[in-house]
Order: sequence, then structure tokens, then C-alpha cells
Amino acid sequence: MPNIPAAKIVIPEADRKEILALMDESLRTGALTLGPLTKQFEAGFAALTGSKYAIAVNSGTSALEIPLRVLGVEGKEVVVPSNTFFATPAAVLHAGGTVRFADVDPSTFALSLETVRRAVTPKTAGVVIVHIGGIVSPETPAIAAFCKEKGLFFLEDAAHAHGSTLGGKSAGTFGVAASFSFYPTKVMTSGEGGMIVTDDERIYKEALQYRDQGKEGFTTNFHVRLGYNWRLSELHAAVGISQLKRLPEFLADRRRAADQYTKALVGLKGLAPVLPAAGSLSNFYKYIVRLEPGLDRARLKKNLKENFGVSLSGEVYEVPCHRQPVFAAYAAEALPGADEACGRHVCLPVYAGMTTAEVDQVVGALSQALEAERTASCA
Ligand SMILES: Cc1ncc(COP(=O)(O)O)c(C=O)c1O
Repeated sequence: MPNIPAAKIVIPEADRKEILALMDESLRTGALTLGPLTKQFEAGFAALTGSKYAIAVNSGTSALEIPLRVLGVEGKEVVVPSNTFFATPAAVLHAGGTVRFADVDPSTFALSLETVRRAVTPKTAGVVIVHIGGIVSPETPAIAAFCKEKGLFFLEDAAHAHGSTLGGKSAGTFGVAASFSFYPTKVMTSGEGGMIVTDDERIYKEALQYRDQGKEGFTTNFHVRLGYNWRLSELHAAVGISQLKRLPEFLADRRRAADQYTKALVGLKGLAPVLPAAGSLSNFYKYIVRLEPGLDRARLKKNLKENFGVSLSGEVYEVPCHRQPVFAAYAAEALPGADEACGRHVCLPVYAGMTTAEVDQVVGALSQALEAERTASCA
């Protein structure tokens, strides 16, 4: 049996040639940063999400911090789910805000209107939702409406959600702005990189300044904001342009594999997939499966890898942020939903080009490993 990797970064040969040709042109002309390729990548990504503006930056982390700076979080609280990547709360702190961790619904892995209501205080400036695993929760529009009513900003950390939709509306268009990541393991990559999307002209214009050392304009040395070097190089934009063209194919592959998992897992005892609700279309950055209480996740993963050659990817996430030492000062209350979501799930391998035989192999391995684990946990 071949080994099944946890994830695969797919850049087909034809694309590599195209990328090298784009890079060659950049090297020939010397346009190596903030040039035509960045503009092309931004236009393509704005079109994908149906946003007015897209601003390419050097990471998903800076794509979060920049809008937070524009929105002005200094000295204010920002509500963030606890089951997210370090970068979400860290960006709030770097932008001068304070983090208020909110609980999540363990059946969706997302904030709900209820958990947001509970977390908001008179000091709250806004809310950041994270579309975990690529799933846009059906509560998203209600949370956006609640924020609007209360005068709070609503930002989407869409690092996982390229191409995901809810009710036909793209992830990244439910709030005032959104951030995407192009880290190599994401559904599409630019090597390193990120993208801000927004319909708000002020956010767009200020984000361009923040990205480039707070300069008033590209050609001036007149600094109007405390920006940073958050620029994306043209060489990275070349990779992003090519991957964006491949995205429809990547999404189709991931959705086909996910569909096969969903059908095959129906009869398996001890697990339940976390699936998008009706009207929500995931990109299946992750295929999340909840495990029944009492199963030893680490042992299950070890068994799958060592005896079946099946590697599972990292969780989303293993340790919630309110339990991370670096955020101890912000761990104000118990968050049982986040603890449960983080503590009891695994992510099955999904990648572009995954074959039906590979999905079958994972399901067969999982079925046997789960049976062994359930027997061991009862013993
Ligand atoms: C939810 C989430 N937010 C933000 C980021 C940060 O993106 P990057 O690694 O591109 O800075 C990531 C990436 O791993 C992420 O998963």
C-alpha cells in the first residue's frame, strides 16, 4: 500500500514553466516588487471573491494586522474565537488591541451569534470570525448583522477559505474586510503571502500605505502611518497568479474527495464528520472528523501512520488559544465549546489530485484503527 501524505502541495509541470516565464520577465525588467504581477494577482483575487479591492501582502498574518490597524483597535477589545491559529489573536495584539476569546459551537467549529453576544463588552471594537477548515458557518450573516447593529466591525479571517461560499456569497465578503493566507499548505499558495479583500475605499487606500512603510504614496518618502514592510514580491505574485488559475480544479478535486469520505464514513462507529450546512460550500481545506469521547487521538494517529501508512494533518487546532501560555493574560473564562472542538477531532488527508483509491485506503485504515481504538478505550 502506498503511503498517504497528510497534505500535498501541487504545482504541475506546465505551471512551473509558466511561473518561471513570469519570474524571468520580472528579473529581466527589474520590476521585483509592487509591479504588474502583484496588480494582476490582486485583480484576479478580487474577481474570485467578488470584492471591489484586493491588496496583496507578504503573509496571512499581515493581511489580518493591516485592517485591524486601519479599523483602530488600540486600547480596545477584539472578540476572537479560541480555536484558531496563533496569528489571529497575535495580530490583534500587534495592532495594539486586547483579545477577548469567545467560545465556539463544537458542531460547526465556529463562533455563533450566542457566543459572540456573550463575549461582547462595552470595550469591544469588533469581532473576527475564522472559517475553520474552509467552512463558512450559516451563523455568519447573523453575526455580521449583530455587529452592524452594535456599531462593531466584523472582520473575516479567511485564511482557510479560498473559494468557499455561503448562499452563493464568497468567504471574505460578509464583513468590512477579510484576510487570506497563501502559506504553502493552504488550498492555493504563493510560497508565502496573503491578501486583504474589501469593498471599503478607506480600508483599501490605508492598507496600501500600511503595506509599504506607511508611505503616503509609492514614490514618496513621506510617512503618514506607522506601517511596515508588508509587501509581496513579484516573484511570489507569479506563483499566486498561476495557483489562482488552478483553483477551480483544486476545489473540484477536494470536493470530490470530501464527498467520497462523507459517503464512506456514514456507517463507521466512533466518528462524525463536521460538514458544511445546507447552502454552505466548503473548499475542504480540511476534512474534519469529530471523535467520540474517550478515544485516544494521539494513539489513533500513530497507529494510522505506523501500521497503515496514513498520515493525518495537524488539527484545527490541537490546543485552543486561551490555553496557550503566550495568551494566558487573556484566558478570562472557561470555553467548553472550544475545548471540546479542539480536543476531539482529527483532519483526514485531502489534497488536489487525491484519487478515489487513496480515499478508499484512508477509509479502510481509519475503520480498522478506530475499531482497535474503541476496543482499547473500553478495556
Ligand atoms: C486561521 C489562520 N489565520 C492566520 C494565518 C496566518 O497566515 P500566514 O501563515 O500566511 O501568516 C493562518 C495560517 O496558517 C491561519 O491558519
